[in-house]
Amino acid sequence: MSSLYPASRPRRLRRTNALRTLFQEIEIQLSDLVLPIFVEEDVSDYVPVSAMPGVVRIPESRLPFEIERLAQAGIQSIMTFGVSHHLDAVGSDSWNENGLVARMARICKDTVPDMIVMSDTCFCEYTTHGHCGVVHDHIIDNDATLVNLGRQAVVAAHSGADFIAPSAAMDGQVQAIRTALDGAGFQDTAIMAYSTKFASAFYGPFREAGGTTLKGNRKTYQMNPMNRHEAILESLLDAEEGADALMVKPAGSFLDTIRDIREATHLPLAAYQVSGEYAMIKFAAAAGAIDEWHTVRETLGAIKRAGADIIISYFALDIAEQGF
Ligand code: PBG
Repeated sequence: MSSLYPASRPRRLRRTNALRTLFQEIEIQLSDLVLPIFVEEDVSDYVPVSAMPGVVRIPESRLPFEIERLAQAGIQSIMTFGVSHHLDAVGSDSWNENGLVARMARICKDTVPDMIVMSDTCFCEYTTHGHCGVVHDHIIDNDATLVNLGRQAVVAAHSGADFIAPSAAMDGQVQAIRTALDGAGFQDTAIMAYSTKFASAFYGPFREAGGTTLKGNRKTYQMNPMNRHEAILESLLDAEEGADALMVKPAGSFLDTIRDIREATHLPLAAYQVSGEYAMIKFAAAAGAIDEWHTVRETLGAIKRAGADIIISYFALDIAEQGF
């Protein structure tokens, strides 16, 4: 029997704001967000990142002030990135007990002990060549890099980091770090693995923010963005190696991957809305093409709906300060 009128009218539940709110399926909570911060040593001024409007490099001397400010705004978790002036071929400052990685963790935890500090664990900001590990004959040496990842992880843990977040994309990095941490007595320091990390064009603005010197690309260690099965496999391997939480990076172009991994494991899953995703929204909004807040809400909502429990985003502070 056909009728002129629809049998089903979803619009009934959209009539008023109260109805729309009542039937809303997900919400983005500030407590789910992690704010990445860039900290530069040996400078006295804030350095704006031109490719990321609104993002600055924080001078190390101002870090205590900034951590207080973030905590007051309601930020509960941060990811630390150092902008180093002490580069060498292997990135040894990153495992120096008084190097930038160690100091960032110590300052953050000394200032606000409850702030969850995730220490990005990599070498690209500490090496002269900008690669994420030891380079031998133009090849990134996987196993030599593992040793250094273990060293950096132990130093970060000793300095108070709650999470070691390895982003070097080396095979076996989670196992190497877990072994090093346990061997040094840091059984309670957790690992947030950048478990599925694509070789992405969306990291473009990060190069400026982090002061990375890389010429070339990371395609021999980061993943091909065209691969679905390998993306799942990479995260499952990190789960087996002992990761406490997994991550998909970037987020917005890989919502299918977030969903695939969500369905393949029961570990907590993070997704990183990276620098290029941030920049696209900021520049398009500044040009008047889109509304920034609706776009931020929609993109973070999509990441959450896809299955991410935790979202790492440069918008976290704006959200803390302004809400949606
Ligand atoms: C370090 C690292 C990168 C990012 C996070 N950790 C750069 C890269 O892998 O090239 C990118 C973050 C962003 O773009 O916001 N390996």
